[in-house]
Amino acid sequence: MSNLERTLSIIKPDAVSRSLDNEIKEIFKSRGFLIIKEKKIQIEKPEAEKFYKVHETKPFYDDLCTYLSSGPIVVMVLEKENAVLDNRELMGATNPKDAAAGTIRKKYGISIDKNSVHGSDSIENAKIEIDFFFKD
Ligand code: CMP
Repeated sequence: MSNLERTLSIIKPDAVSRSLDNEIKEIFKSRGFLIIKEKKIQIEKPEAEKFYKVHETKPFYDDLCTYLSSGPIVVMVLEKENAVLDNRELMGATNPKDAAAGTIRKKYGISIDKNSVHGSDSIENAKIEIDFFFKD
């Protein structure tokens, strides 16, 4: 049975500022993800606060929002079978130190904050996050 899904991926400021966005996009494509939509943007802090609202009670929330709005990011809608879980597997653990070999965060991540990529954590959140950036 087909299980075609879409997920939201963000290439974060640490990766874009090191000009890794094309290289990371190639990794997604080589793993069978179609990049359905993409844009390079810089968001303001209030927008980052809205995007990461689920984390608003966490001690790292303010730094996280300052960071996401600190420079250009690439936001993409990725499509493939099981896109949500497969993207999380390809990204690796949140903390690059714990990420498995061959994952994007292991290869490019600098720290738990500067971990190069974000990906939706569920189908439900993927819909919300895609709408957040690509509502038309
Ligand atoms: P991301 O997948 O974008 O979702 C929330 C982000 O918060 C996460 O990646 C990390 O970059 C960042 N973060 C910072 N500190 C922590 C922490 N202690 N636990 C989880 N995420 C954290």
